[in-house]
Parts: sequence; C-alpha cells; structure tokens
Amino acid sequence: MPIKKMWGGRFEEGGDKLVDEFGASISFDQQMAKEDITGSLAHVKMLKATEILPAEDADKIIAGLEELLQELDENGLPFDVENEDIHMNIEALLTEKIGPVAGKLHTGRSRNDQVATDFHLYVKERLPMIIDAIKGLQEALVKLAKDNVETIMPGYTHMQHAQPISYGHYLMAYFAMFQRDVERFEFNKKHTDLSPLGAAALAGTTFPIDREMTADLLGFDAPYANSLDAVSDRDFALEFLSNASILMVHLSRLCEEVIYWCSYEFGYIELSDAYSTGSSIMPQKKNPDMAELIRGKSGRIFGDLMGLLTTMKGLPLAYNKDMQEDKEGTFDAVKTIMPSLKVMSGMINTLSVKKETMAHATTHDFSNATELADYLATKGVPFREAHEIVGELVLSGLKTGKNLADISLEEFQKINPKIGPDVYEVLKPEVAVARRKSLGGTGFDEVKKQISQAEKLLNL
Ligand code: ARG
Repeated sequence: MPIKKMWGGRFEEGGDKLVDEFGASISFDQQMAKEDITGSLAHVKMLKATEILPAEDADKIIAGLEELLQELDENGLPFDVENEDIHMNIEALLTEKIGPVAGKLHTGRSRNDQVATDFHLYVKERLPMIIDAIKGLQEALVKLAKDNVETIMPGYTHMQHAQPISYGHYLMAYFAMFQRDVERFEFNKKHTDLSPLGAAALAGTTFPIDREMTADLLGFDAPYANSLDAVSDRDFALEFLSNASILMVHLSRLCEEVIYWCSYEFGYIELSDAYSTGSSIMPQKKNPDMAELIRGKSGRIFGDLMGLLTTMKGLPLAYNKDMQEDKEGTFDAVKTIMPSLKVMSGMINTLSVKKETMAHATTHDFSNATELADYLATKGVPFREAHEIVGELVLSGLKTGKNLADISLEEFQKINPKIGPDVYEVLKPEVAVARRKSLGGTGFDEVKKQISQAEKLLNL
C-alpha cells in the first residue's frame, strides 16, 4: 500500500511506484535540507509575529524544526523517497516529532516559493566560498609572478615564438582573468539575494504575511517584487552557471599551457610529484593528470549551463515541474569548481620553473626580430621597409643557422650604414622585455606595478 500523499485529497487511486520514483527529487534536493529548515523557521516565526498562527502552535513548530536542524547537523536525517522531495520529507519528519500541528507550517506558503527560497539560500551561501577559492588561486599566481618578474620566456601568438616576455607578466594575465571571475561572482550575489518566500504558489496569498520580515530573517536584501517572477526565476542559477563556465574556460586554458610546458619538448616547468601521476606500464612517465582533469571537467560545467538554459527556455509562467531539473547541474558545478580551484592553486604553488630552459628558448630563435625592425625605424628607415629588411635577414638566417645577434657589424652595415654596435644590446631578449615600458606592457617595472596592485586587491 503506497503511503498517502500530502497532496492526495483529490486523488482516488494510489500512485505508481515508477512514477513516484521518477518524480521524486529527494535523492539530490536533500542537499538543501539545511536551507529548507531555515526557510521554514523564518516562515513560521513570521506566522507567529503576524498572528496568523497562535503563538503556542508556532512555538511547537519552531522547537520541532530546531531539533531537526540539530539532528541534521549531528547525524543527518532519514529521508524517504515516498515523500518525494526535501520539503515534504522535512514536513513528514516534523509531523512525526510534534504531531498534526506540523500541518499548520504550510499556511500561506507553497512548495513553489519554498523550493525557490531553498535554492536561493543554497547558491547565496556558496558564492563567497567560490570567491574565496578563486582568491586562493590568485594568491598563488601572484606569488609565482613575484618570483619570476625577470624570468624571460617566449611570448606566443599562433603558438609561434612572437616576442620575449616576462613569465611574471604571463602569470599576471591569468590573475586578471580570475579577477573578472571574482567580479562576476560578486555581481551574481545581487540577483541571488532576493527572497521568493511569500510568493506562495504563484499569486501571493490572502493571509496577512510579512514578506519583508522573512526576507530579513533569512538575510536576503529584499523580497522579489513580483510573485510570478519570484517562483519562476532561475536567472541567478543561470548566471551562476555561466560564471562557472567562464571560470572553467580560464582554468582550462591555464591547464592547457601547464600540460604543454611540462612536456619534454618545452620543459619550461616541472610539476611537483604530489600533483603528478605515473604510468602503469611506462616507468619514465610523470603525467600532468590533474591539469588534464580540470581541463576535462570544463566540459561538464558547460553541460550544466546548457542543460539549465535548455530546461528554462520554453517555460510558461509560473512554476513548472521542469524546474526541478535546475538543481543537479548547479550542485554538480559547485562540487566540480571548488576542488578544481583548490587543486589548481596547489599545482601553481608547488611547480618549479626551469628559468634557463625558458630563457634559452628566446636566445635561439628570431623573437627579437621586432627589436631590429624597431631599431631601424628609429634610425629613420620607414617601418614597412625595416620589416622587409629584417624578414630577409630571418630568411637567410634560417638557411645558414645564424640568429640575428650572430650577424657581424660589418654585415649589418652593408644592409644599412646607420646600424651601430649598440644594435647588439637591443637584440638581447632581456633588453627587449625591459624596454617594453608602455602601460600594461611586459617591461619589468610594469609587471612589478601589476603585482603590487594585485597584492593590494588581495590584501597581501
Ligand atoms: N521538488 C520540486 C522542485 O524541485 C519542488 C516544487 C514542487 N512544486 C510543485 N508544485 N510540484 O521543483
């Protein structure tokens, strides 16, 4: 015999087990148990204050909910799929505890505003945790950047050597990306910080409820202005998932480079043993599995976003059961990005930089070609012409195995008599970097400025 549903009054026949299981959300929405009880506590305190419920009944409900909260904290609560979702499970447990007076809790409320409230509370509580974890990663990047202001590496465009840059400068570019992530999650708070409670099923309620009071008790900025919007808005979760997706794009790009750079061909960095794995067959292997895994996990976060966008896109106002699909992807995103950020921070904190290998890559290439073209331009050669001249030098250098700095002064002067012995200084990679003093450029002083601004931002 199936148990009687809380909404079973207008039904004549019992439920179908398969349907009950398919419709149930308790397997995952139990993650909002704390939020559900907290929401109910605010609701019942308001029902007492507005005298919608006699104080004596309200007090019994409050005491029962507080006990449940404590039990949840200590040993967890026993949930039953027969009770469908977290809201009805908590009410069933409350009824077991205090008897039929528990049924008064749902006065002036619906599961529609209840689930929206729980979900807002869930996301609201996690936003600062995510922001903190991003800041942890930013701190690791700033520290590494500080140690590597004067570490020279090839800067790339099209994955081809372009111009030498400071490794610190490179790291600070990621710092800037993660700073935008912090700001996006900060903004996410604004739309999450609204209370749907009291919107009831869709239209508000005839009871003289006080929505300001429940919003206040729950720590929300304000109640939603429109009851239909309150129960059907999932923008805050969509914003959360799109912020999480952009964050994963950044993590994934960083991982991609970590993977390349610890390869035999590059050898720019080495990951610590703790953040690497071996192979069961090839004894020599030290694999960057963690970076690959984070790069791989970006896929599931994009999937979580696409899932919710698609779920929401055709929904008429107000609540539809489709919206029960809003939670798993969001929970998954939280469960994925938190450890991804922590592992990435650990990886950055413990990697070692092969400064010589990095620098060496810029002394055996043509990444100083722009320097020579600029040098000629400062001697009055039109830049287009200078570009052509240097291009030809590169071409012949590629054939003879000579770099630009290997060309003798005599040969240089045959090309243009204005070239003097000072050209060799200009061709040095570290000089090329140091001279890029334009605002936000890779010049050492500019990189130091970025680092000190970042330190201020992080209160380091
Ligand atoms: N479990 C539901 C959800 O997650 C709660 C709201 C149910 N409301 C309803 N009218 N069926 O969306």
